[in-house]
Amino acid sequence: MKQYLEHAISLAEMVEGQTGVNPPVGAVVVKDGRIIGLGSHLKKGDKHAEIQAIDMAGNDNVKGATIYVSLEPCSHYGATPPCAQRIIDTGIQKVVYAARDITLPATGHKMMADHGIDVQYAPHPRAEQLYASFFTSKTTAHPIVTVKVSASMDGKQATDHHESQWITSKAVKADVFKLRHMHDAIITGNGTLTADNPSLTVRTQDGCHPARVILTQSGNVNWDATLFHDHLAPVYVYTDQPELVSPFEHVQVVQLPDTAIETVLHDLYTKGFGRVLVEAGPKLTSQFLASEFISTFILYLAPKIIGGQGKYQYFQTDGVTPLDQLNTFEIVHSEMIDTDMKLLMKRK
Ligand SMILES: NC(=O)c1ccc[n+]([C@@H]2O[C@H](COP(=O)([O-])OP(=O)(O)OC[C@H]3O[C@@H](n4cnc5c(N)ncnc54)[C@H](OP(=O)(O)O)[C@@H]3O)[C@@H](O)[C@H]2O)c1
Repeated sequence: MKQYLEHAISLAEMVEGQTGVNPPVGAVVVKDGRIIGLGSHLKKGDKHAEIQAIDMAGNDNVKGATIYVSLEPCSHYGATPPCAQRIIDTGIQKVVYAARDITLPATGHKMMADHGIDVQYAPHPRAEQLYASFFTSKTTAHPIVTVKVSASMDGKQATDHHESQWITSKAVKADVFKLRHMHDAIITGNGTLTADNPSLTVRTQDGCHPARVILTQSGNVNWDATLFHDHLAPVYVYTDQPELVSPFEHVQVVQLPDTAIETVLHDLYTKGFGRVLVEAGPKLTSQFLASEFISTFILYLAPKIIGGQGKYQYFQTDGVTPLDQLNTFEIVHSEMIDTDMKLLMKRK
């Protein structure tokens, strides 16, 4: 039944942003027209959604049941044993899943079907959207990247005199807290750290603070900045300066041979960061917007025109890219937030 599959997808969507480099997955076990088990994969290393749902239902009850899963059950030994094997062992009769896992070598589908289980792949657009960036991220070993920009109608993140506080409304800030909550880390540049002294935290009830990542080439870091002292979430400073050392035990300086965004992203992925949010000024934002790594671009536009010479126009490049080679986006959602406009775009 379609509704059970949609419940499973909703359970996956609810944990999007908290599973690190693992996919968010939801599962629902149904028997005799009744839901007898529900599960979500809550965090990397924890039980998978299918196992949570089967455990809730109880091994004795699941014989002959149907399990609805947002993603094809796995058939490999990773941090946990294969879910497909547990489904086979418990005597579940039917499996319906909404997205194929194209990143895994062996398929759970075949393994379960070979054991006589009725396995149905029922593609669903919500699951497709949920997993598209996850598959790319896993294949390339880079986190899923969202870039967030708050700007005036003429594309300025700040005036030529650095003023950037409250270009967009306070209601936008509340939306940004939700966005931060859904990412493992926020990446910013040393320019923003110096100009704004940001906390980059989530100031809402039950919000989870992401790690903070600062990029610097100069190594001229203001160690008095608030985020080095609030102890609310880990802080990493990425640099190619071999002499830069952290004055604090809880702040990690990561020295890499180069700090091209590709190199930094790969290192973050190996540290377990599956989704990162870029909240930076034009220098760093432009590198991400011009790259192949951006998956989602969220633009908050305030109905103001700032003018000046455009020192802080959010997208700036040295060269001019031909129109047919530009990064292009599809607007998948738009809404008014108080007086401002929010555009949510996916890279095409
Ligand atoms: N409205 C908004 O959404 C928003 C958001 C953030 C910031 N801002 C505004 O933006 C302005 C700052 O602009 P900005 O362009 O200077 O900020 P930025 O892009 O956040 O920071 C630029 C600095 O980050 C470091 N950096 C950038 N790319 C790097 C890389 N690949 N590797 C290593 N280090 C790298 C460099 O630091 P070093 O110089 O140390 O090498 C560079 O000077 C401020 O006025 C701020 O208020 C606005």
